[in-house]
Amino acid sequence: MCGIVAYVGKNNASSFLLRALEKLEYRGYDSAGIAVCKENKLNLIKKKGRINVLREALQGLSGFEGFTGIGHTRWATHGEPSDVNSHPHTGNSGKIAIVHNGIIENYMVLKNNLIKKGVNFSSETDSEVVAALIDSSYEGDIFEAVRRAIPSFEGSFALGILCSDFPDQIIAVKKESPLVLGFGDGENYIASDISAFVEDTRNICRLNENEMALIKADSVSFYNFKGEKINKNITKIDWNVGSSDKGGFEHFMMKEIMEQPSAIRETISPRISNGEIVLKSLKNFNEEYLKNVKKIFVIACGSSYHVGLASRFALEKLTKLPVEVELASEFRYRSPIVDETTLLIVISQSGETADSLAALREGKRRGAKVMAIVNVVGSSIASEADFVFYTWAGIEVAVATTKAYSSQLASTYLVALYVSKILKTVSESTFKNYLNYIELLPELVEKILLGKEKIYEIAKKYYQCDNVFFIGRGVDYAVCMEGSLKFKEISYIHSEAYAAGELKHGTISLIESGTLVIAVATDKRLFEKISSNIREVKARGAVCMAITIEPKKEEISYVANDVFFVSEIPEIFLPSLAVIPLQLFSYYSALLRGRDIDKPRNLAKSVTVE
Ligand code: G6P
Repeated sequence: MCGIVAYVGKNNASSFLLRALEKLEYRGYDSAGIAVCKENKLNLIKKKGRINVLREALQGLSGFEGFTGIGHTRWATHGEPSDVNSHPHTGNSGKIAIVHNGIIENYMVLKNNLIKKGVNFSSETDSEVVAALIDSSYEGDIFEAVRRAIPSFEGSFALGILCSDFPDQIIAVKKESPLVLGFGDGENYIASDISAFVEDTRNICRLNENEMALIKADSVSFYNFKGEKINKNITKIDWNVGSSDKGGFEHFMMKEIMEQPSAIRETISPRISNGEIVLKSLKNFNEEYLKNVKKIFVIACGSSYHVGLASRFALEKLTKLPVEVELASEFRYRSPIVDETTLLIVISQSGETADSLAALREGKRRGAKVMAIVNVVGSSIASEADFVFYTWAGIEVAVATTKAYSSQLASTYLVALYVSKILKTVSESTFKNYLNYIELLPELVEKILLGKEKIYEIAKKYYQCDNVFFIGRGVDYAVCMEGSLKFKEISYIHSEAYAAGELKHGTISLIESGTLVIAVATDKRLFEKISSNIREVKARGAVCMAITIEPKKEEISYVANDVFFVSEIPEIFLPSLAVIPLQLFSYYSALLRGRDIDKPRNLAKSVTVE
């Protein structure tokens, strides 16, 4: 979703801005733009399309050599992707330019008021109203104009603001959307995400809610929304942000698929010591707290929600506590039975997903303690949770998540087993046995990845299909949900995931000659049942690819057209293995269809609007 960058320093701002915007491309966007201040003049360019379109348009243009600038990648919400709707937006005076991430919910009211006062608007966006209102509040002191305008905005906003009367400074504002500052030597940066400037500096400071900053090349001052100065600490990032180049792969997605063994290792190794799970960073997540927990609620969006669905099996089986899993965007609008006896687990790669953050706040409001399973260090969800479990998967660039999904899943197993040990709901030998399997996961995933060519061959047979149904039971159904999402989001082929037992209640009417059905059949206890379901769809003309476990590979080859197998491990951990061939199948199908795999249309990696 929208990305913000800004620079003030001694070097050419536009070359930093373009480079930094490219680092934020992973968030998903449809247009990009920059504004640079040179000798008290604002120069602005914005283009629909990829950053290279902007880069090309900039060739030979003068006025962009200044040392202060703001940049933006836009993911359209209000108004179609177009040059005019792209950011930066300016006020009528032409002196002020802004970039915005978030949504100004009351923008129509503000816009109508401004129109009555004679202000002209050129775009359909909510963001233009920010530029217009600041512009109309401006009487020579830009900081004061921003401060006066802020209380009028309802909704979420991270802002970068540039004013041609102050060519040596930028103002940053944060409410609900992420914003981080980077401190260099005689140059400073702002961005939606550290990855935009991590090659330039590792000294950072995140703006908290309702904070703003005045940034110059050699100084930064922080304020609250009342304009009172506040003190904030600069921290040095000592964790591995991860590499954001493709490392020889054609796509980030394949690189990240292949990184899964090491990502899972990074998640689990630091937490296992001498046969025990050690969660040092989870202070107070101890017996005293856990003995009062009566229920676990898992909340997330997208693939992280699918992790929640898959984790329920391990959480329930091991902790013996009731577990509910719900989409964050739905959770808030019911009256969920959540109180101080509820452990709310929020799963999020980015740690910024607006619905997940809102659900976290709702859960806390109702008295629950919140554990965040998050990849991005210091993100909003991590900052607001009571207990933070970092997945340490490293930066994930492809919009379609793979390694973050796998690390999240491994994290939930560790949490489940850790809690079960404290609550004494598993025996010592079961604990050891399960922990061994968790430690084996990286190796077993590696083994599956060695067989990726086989999946490529299967994808070549089926990539031209128009409809795909993923069927499974139990944990396999949870894996199907992720497989189907992965497949449709990057291949643009329609697909649906069904609990295999439900097929007969309607969906089977869609099965016809040549329909591809992908059956996930790894849970041995349910093997006969899913085999019957495969027979039922094949009897109606479907072709079937099955994912199963090694001991069942021959048996299933009597019913399925193509079979791929993974190692046999306890069913609660099988999602970690079964998902891998589905990721590969999605990747290869999209590749064969010539799709934009890392940046699928309309999608964003970090969804910071509700
Ligand atoms: C977007 C991403 C998905 C992700 C979902 C939730 O839709 O494309 O890959 O699963 O957001 O994001 P989160 O950062 O909260 O895991």
